[in-house]
Amino acid sequence: MKDVILWTGAGQIGMAIARRLGYGKKIVVGDKNIENANAIAKIMNEAGFDVEPMECDISSRESILHLIKKGGTGVTISSQSGHRMEQLGAVIDEQLATTPTEELLNLDVLQPENIKDTLHAYQLAKRCNEKRVMAESVKWGERGARINSISPGIIVTPLAIDEFNGIRGDFYKNMFAKCPAGRPGTADEVANVAELLMTDKGAFITGADFLIDGGATASYFYGPLKPENN
Ligand SMILES: NC(=O)c1ccc[n+]([C@@H]2O[C@H](COP(=O)([O-])OP(=O)(O)OC[C@H]3O[C@@H](n4cnc5c(N)ncnc54)[C@H](O)[C@@H]3O)[C@@H](O)[C@H]2O)c1
Repeated sequence: MKDVILWTGAGQIGMAIARRLGYGKKIVVGDKNIENANAIAKIMNEAGFDVEPMECDISSRESILHLIKKGGTGVTISSQSGHRMEQLGAVIDEQLATTPTEELLNLDVLQPENIKDTLHAYQLAKRCNEKRVMAESVKWGERGARINSISPGIIVTPLAIDEFNGIRGDFYKNMFAKCPAGRPGTADEVANVAELLMTDKGAFITGADFLIDGGATASYFYGPLKPENN
């Protein structure tokens, strides 16, 4: 029986990772927009991969369980990761890691009046994800599994191109122009990190988050992107 990769979000970053690691394996790709899953499955199947598309909404537990059932057992690539532009306090981190899900929505930090805009909501969601990865890695370690997350900076994909052309376009263009790398990244560079994490070379890495942003976060704190320098 083939090993199985469960992959959610049929986007460019997920595809780069699946192409790097998925040969010889069965790949199930779930997307809430089935057309995206179908399109990416077609590209990969025509390149010799074994990809089965399905509709899946990762905001629904039932839908995720359905995806798992479809794949049998395996490894999950979840493409959820994100920018880390803002340092949130240790107290918040502690709350996010230890509060039961049903109580989370009542936390002060998550009340609509305390969330400035959609970018702030995105940052909070991604920070929650990091803390969840840490907490889950402890539980899953007992079963021999490792869990890590990748936080990409600006990676050229349709999602990023939409952002370049949207209301925050100048903000993003300034961000990659003034980061140490001086350019946006590519999905294949994210796959380099995934390859380390998901193969034996990463055997000692679990509960960790990997920032791959061309140094944008460093510049935000110590370089030309620092708010007072703009
Ligand atoms: N591209 C970047 O610059 C960048 C930077 C940081 C983080 N990320 C994160 O990486 C991930 C993948 O990014 P990408 O640029 O490859 O995206 P993409 O736009 O190429 O693809 C994302 C896919 O996810 C699907 N999707 C959205 N909500 C879903 C849901 N609830 N359930 C199932 N599928 C859903 C969309 O239909 C789309 O097909 C995202 O989580 C994104 O936030 C991307």
